[in-house]
Amino acid sequence: MLYQKQLILLVLLAGSALPAAVDRAHDVEDLTGQKIAKARFSTDVATDKYTPPEEMDPQFWYDLAYEEIAQRLELPQPNAKKAKNIILFLGDGMSLSTVAAARILKGQRQGNTGEESSLSFEKFPYTGLSRTYCSNAQVPDSACTATAYLCGVKTNIIEIGVSAAVDFNNCTASQDPANRLTSIAEWAQNAGKSTGIVTTTTLTHASPSGAYAKTANRMWECDTDVEYYGVDPTECIDMATQLITQVPGKNFEVMFGGGFGKFLPNTIKDLHGNPGERSDGVNLLSKWQAQHPGGVLVSNRDQLLKANLSAVSSIVGLFQTELMKFHLEADEAYQPTLSELTEAAITKLSQNENGYFVFIEGGLIDYGNHYTQAGYALDETLEFEKAIKLARDITDIEDTLIVVTSDHAHALSIAGYPGRGTPILGLNHHDIDVNGVKYAVLNYAVGPKNYLDSEGNRIDLSDQIGGDDFVFPGYITKDQGVHSGDDVGIFASGPQSHLFTGVMQQSTIPHLMAYAACIGSGPQVCDAE
Ligand SMILES: *[C@@H]1O[C@H](CO)[C@@H](O)[C@H](O)[C@H]1NC(C)=O
Ligand SMILES: *[C@@H]1O[C@H](CO)[C@@H](O)[C@H](O)[C@H]1NC(C)=O
Ligand SMILES: [Zn+2]
Repeated sequence: MLYQKQLILLVLLAGSALPAAVDRAHDVEDLTGQKIAKARFSTDVATDKYTPPEEMDPQFWYDLAYEEIAQRLELPQPNAKKAKNIILFLGDGMSLSTVAAARILKGQRQGNTGEESSLSFEKFPYTGLSRTYCSNAQVPDSACTATAYLCGVKTNIIEIGVSAAVDFNNCTASQDPANRLTSIAEWAQNAGKSTGIVTTTTLTHASPSGAYAKTANRMWECDTDVEYYGVDPTECIDMATQLITQVPGKNFEVMFGGGFGKFLPNTIKDLHGNPGERSDGVNLLSKWQAQHPGGVLVSNRDQLLKANLSAVSSIVGLFQTELMKFHLEADEAYQPTLSELTEAAITKLSQNENGYFVFIEGGLIDYGNHYTQAGYALDETLEFEKAIKLARDITDIEDTLIVVTSDHAHALSIAGYPGRGTPILGLNHHDIDVNGVKYAVLNYAVGPKNYLDSEGNRIDLSDQIGGDDFVFPGYITKDQGVHSGDDVGIFASGPQSHLFTGVMQQSTIPHLMAYAACIGSGPQVCDAE
């Protein structure tokens, strides 16, 4: 009985991958004498595929394995020193499928098949997995997860810097000192370190806000937003105001991102020519300037690259009115790259002899995935990995801990037996659906376009697919794609990086970084000395 069930299951699984015309010819009888399709793959998935010639020799794989063994044996003794500097790189919405697809795109851009390529941070010696659920959510958002990986506490979805005792949008509860959390940025400041935030989204977006904000609703970015949600902005201070006027935000020496509008009154225009969004008439940047006489405000690439970072006390860069633009769509002369922002941030912060903590986000990976424009998501992932390579190259591996992770996954799949070297943003030429139609290599569970005709049959994508901005199919139709609940990767290099292994709660990450740097109120490596 059990055997029969397993057999039927196998048939169902395999059957869905079989072109009908092929499998019917090979029908067999099951144990009860019924005709069923033989449980095996269509030969289509095996024929007409490219194999790199060198990989036909088993010795190729032995050599690769011996090399990978040697790398592990040559790992230096775990670096048990104290970390002077901590860099947390966050790829927003960078699921493990996004990492794999991006590495394939990287290799293909270099003219190779792609699958064998590696992203810079995949070469870090220690890796682990982060469990991303939030207190009231199986699949999280970027707010509760930022609270986990920056404040070390899991909370409710849409909330930042407050505990799960606070309900969504409840101003009163968010003011209770018992519910308010501190972030690793504050722990670092208390230890005399310099701090900063860098993002390709906005300074008041959920991820960077985990470093400074305490809010019962991540949408409370400026006073106008707080009012929109029915709350008195004089009682619950908006996130932009928190950043400029409260600890730890007001002490940040580096703040780079988009989101100029949240800091200016709606009566004046920002340096990009667009009006501000504030209703309270406050120009937060004038306020910041008054409090930081040696500080400088920049708004484009030229100004950033010309700033004398050893002469300024602090620097704010607001490079767009709203989100920064996708790297593929940005004016290169106007908007700095994530690598340029990373270099400027490290240059500035490393002037402090006590070290620094900096949060650096590739925030548009998530947007590419939400729009199911995988080409953008993957390109942003490649921009992110370049910035990480640069950071590792310009810092000392002996004293600087770099941790790379993501806040949550996205429902992106790489599926259907495409052949080796198949363009990752293209069509899978080695499988067809039940109607004999080829389908994309990449697909999303949910997305704005399902590419079905009026009868519900999948349409042929051959003449649409291939561009950077192609909207990949989503099985369930919705205005945009959604996050998913898979674990995400953690990649670590530098002092105490050997601790970032195994499967851990996302909320453990800042405590481990604090342990390594001897900051915060939890266990510290210095305790043992
Ligand atoms: C807000 O939370 C407090 C507990 O801190 C609770 O007493 C109050 O009823 C909540 N307000 C609303 C509108 O739910
Ligand atoms: C940058 O500022 C430092 C410190 O004030 C000064 O010594 C240096 O000459 C400046 N560099 C440039 C290129 O202006
Ligand atoms: Zn998202």
